[in-house]
Amino acid sequence: MQSTLVLVKPDGVQRSLIGEILRRCEAKGYVIEDLKLFSPPKELLEKHYQEHEGKPFYEPLVEFMLSGPTLACKLSGERVIEGFRSLAGTTDPTTAAPGTIRGDLARDWGLNVQQNLVHGSDSEESAAKELALWFG
Ligand code: RTP
Ligand code: MG
Repeated sequence: MQSTLVLVKPDGVQRSLIGEILRRCEAKGYVIEDLKLFSPPKELLEKHYQEHEGKPFYEPLVEFMLSGPTLACKLSGERVIEGFRSLAGTTDPTTAAPGTIRGDLARDWGLNVQQNLVHGSDSEESAAKELALWFG
């Protein structure tokens, strides 16, 4: 059985989309193993987004993630890493396919970072690292 880290980012929490996003995960057939709603410290976010350090959106991204509480979810199921990324849609919400979380529920607000509601681990290695970081 595979597990992934799903985050409902501060924009999703603020827009009251936790229920809708978790509903889509459950409707797909994945299992919620653990949930945690909290305001993560900056050090956790810097570790989580380490791979993006130095990119132009890095600082705005960390600031955005500090703007309010985030829901962390351990989601499980066969091929859930790939499956959740497919449910989420592509990074840019303007062009994310309709039917996906980002395509249906997110848009571009003209800010210096994409507010795209969710995060999903992108590989088995990232999932293990991120689940340890957020739930370890
Ligand atoms: P995530 O890590 O959040 O699941 O999203 P992702 O894999 O689709 O995107 P990634 O390339 O890992 O970027 C992480 C997050 O940074 C923000 N971003 N904004 N040009 C921009 O405005 C821009 N590029 C990236 C997004 O919030 C993205 O999800
Ligand atoms: Mg990513």
